[in-house]
Amino acid sequence: MKAIELNHPLVEHKLAILRDKKTGTKEFREIISELGEILCYEAMKDAKTYEVEIETPMQKMKTRKINEDNYAFVPILRAGTGMLDGIINVVPNAKIGHIGMYRDEETFKPNVYFFKVPKDIEQREVLILDPMLATGGSGLDAIELLKEKGVKHLKFLCIIAAPEGIKAIEDKHPDVQIYCAKIDEKLNEHAYILPGLGDAGDRIFGTK
Ligand code: PRP
Ligand code: URA
Repeated sequence: MKAIELNHPLVEHKLAILRDKKTGTKEFREIISELGEILCYEAMKDAKTYEVEIETPMQKMKTRKINEDNYAFVPILRAGTGMLDGIINVVPNAKIGHIGMYRDEETFKPNVYFFKVPKDIEQREVLILDPMLATGGSGLDAIELLKEKGVKHLKFLCIIAAPEGIKAIEDKHPDVQIYCAKIDEKLNEHAYILPGLGDAGDRIFGTK
């Protein structure tokens, strides 16, 4: 499956603010959350709906709703939690799992330090959240941990993706659809995305 890139002038505008090194923690956090919400709309375009009857102030009508129980959202800690606020705005009853990982600064390989997901996760479509898809190492580990739990339907939502990370996931898990706000140029020698936005976790939490 080809990665789906949001292509919209407003998204481009928000990304310009996000990438700017002068943008402070508050605005950075708000935009990460907003883009998380927009990506959620895009990734749930194919959501199944069921018919309900409601009454408007004017008359009865038949309309459609989604079953929120069919989904679970799994942010990769830390930075993925920044996308969660926006997602909860649109799917308020979302069940949420957490995968804690950090990249080793020398090998760039992810280390898993936490894994807690809803107990019926295998019955849900799972949307993994992480603003940055760089080498793809963290994404691959998250996908593999969730598949080991029996999850069959997975999507990966990120804000900026490097071609290297997209390729890594597409090669090993062609069934996992990637959604991103932007595909950037490449990685640098420290496996940071160029032009990118720097360290997403540090900018969300103000740790540097
Ligand atoms: C960042 C980012 C991803 C990972 C991407 O997390 O949020 O999880 O790096 O890189 P990869 O595709 O090469 O694995 P980081 O390890 O910096 O942890 P943090 O969210 O706690 O800052
Ligand atoms: N993680 C980040 O936060 N930023 C990058 O550019 C790469 C990995």
